[in-house]
Amino acid sequence: MPTRPKLAAGNWKMNGTAAALSEVAQLLAAHPEPGCQVLICPPATLVHRMAVAAEGSDMLIGGQDCHGAVSGAHTGDVSAAMLADAGASHVITGHSERRADHGETDADVRTKSEAAHAAGLIAIICIGETLAQRETGETLTVCGGQLDGSVPEAATAANTVVAYEPIWAIGTGKVPTLEQIAEVHDDLRARLVARFGDEGEAMRLLYGGSVKPANASEIFAVSNVDGALVGGASLKAADFGGIIAALADA
Ligand code: PGA
Repeated sequence: MPTRPKLAAGNWKMNGTAAALSEVAQLLAAHPEPGCQVLICPPATLVHRMAVAAEGSDMLIGGQDCHGAVSGAHTGDVSAAMLADAGASHVITGHSERRADHGETDADVRTKSEAAHAAGLIAIICIGETLAQRETGETLTVCGGQLDGSVPEAATAANTVVAYEPIWAIGTGKVPTLEQIAEVHDDLRARLVARFGDEGEAMRLLYGGSVKPANASEIFAVSNVDGALVGGASLKAADFGGIIAALADA
């Protein structure tokens, strides 16, 4: 079985101005050799400054969204090439907040992920069910459908990471049971292997939704969990540092 590099990814969402760069400095000071890959996805306005701050370290910087086109008349949008130019190596695509707030469909997410790949970025493609879908037993069907629709045909383990984020667990403090996480991650792994073979086996699967230092170790021990996509707890160096340490030890 291939060893999948562990990844702790922080999603700052619409939080952070220049003052927040001190959190990155603290993180770098506390984890000079983090023991796993560490990625922070700040708002687009901070990508370049954070990339400069992270220069010479192992810390990776990413965007939170990109447009599907290379350039053009799309006021307010940012292209994947622009993120790469600013120093990003990754970009989150299809986060449930983008799907909800901006009506992004699986086809949109696939196009954005293809644009990320074309710009040389690693796409972190997000999927996840609502509480209503879980309660009606549709979790695997919904997540499987999103996976099939959102992940591009040319995805490889080198250019794609999949994040399973149950919508009801995001920012709520509610976390699925370890059995529920395992059920989804095992199913996603089987689907990726069926579609992509060895590349599907080697593709990282992150869990996201209310990951904290206190629950990180048990989540990282679940089969087919290769790291986490962390929102709220990634904003403070002390909290994200605890999650990084748990992942490094997993
Ligand atoms: P949360 O967010 O860790 O604050 O629940 C996770 C995410 O939306 O990626």
